[in-house]
Amino acid sequence: MVRLTVVRNEDAVVATAAERVTSNVDTSLADRGSAVVCLTGGSTPQRLYEGLAEEARAIDWTRVHLFWGDERHVPPDHPDSNFGMAHRALVAHVPVPAPQIHRMRGELPDATAAASAYEAELREGFARAGRRDQTFDLMLLGLGEDAHVASIFPGSELLVAGAGLPGPSEGESSRRGSNGRVAAVWAAHLNAWRITLTPPAILDARAILMIVAGEQKAEAVRVALEMPEDISRWPAHLLRSAADRVEWVVDEAAAGRLRNS
Ligand code: 6PG
Repeated sequence: MVRLTVVRNEDAVVATAAERVTSNVDTSLADRGSAVVCLTGGSTPQRLYEGLAEEARAIDWTRVHLFWGDERHVPPDHPDSNFGMAHRALVAHVPVPAPQIHRMRGELPDATAAASAYEAELREGFARAGRRDQTFDLMLLGLGEDAHVASIFPGSELLVAGAGLPGPSEGESSRRGSNGRVAAVWAAHLNAWRITLTPPAILDARAILMIVAGEQKAEAVRVALEMPEDISRWPAHLLRSAADRVEWVVDEAAAGRLRNS
């Protein structure tokens, strides 16, 4: 069963999401001694990060480990960088120790090399957090107007059965690292490479928080939550397999086309 929380407006989405992040981190610290959080790009997440920075004392950031779900193929100081955005909005303002900040290296000339490097970063980062597996405590995600999540776009090879297995052949437009948890994808509609976690890496998170606001997302929210499953066409349908580990926090405008909200 999907958990859907509809709130009044984007301010309320941000406030509700901040409350969920704080409580997830508290629980993770109590149960496991560290909190492993995966950040996303996007405009509503940016507002969430600014809110978390303003209330920095609500979280023990010294024991938080930060990763990213996807990245553009640009250096960290580029205006399009997801790391750069999160750094300006949050990371620069909270005491997360530098060795616990794990960004994707979008500046590497070869996006496939950046994906492989992030496989190693995941291994080392989770070990540093005292974890034997690579299960995120919290995965933050936004929703694209085409119902994409992270950089997994409609029609992506990452959405076909068996995704996550290594070894795509020469010429394929997505290339996964050796463990299949990170991929470089050629997004033809953007004429750009992206680096992204793959479905297996996203879906085994202990909690997944979808943050969506604005009328322009209303159709995407409707297809994501109410259309019969077609994962290849609507990547957000992936999240159905994570069932009640997923919560959607959506404002009234974005929920406006749902039949049962
Ligand atoms: C990115 C993302 C992407 C984003 C959605 C929603 O880097 O583009 O990680 O998946 O979360 O496109 O973005 P907005 O909140 O800006 O609409």
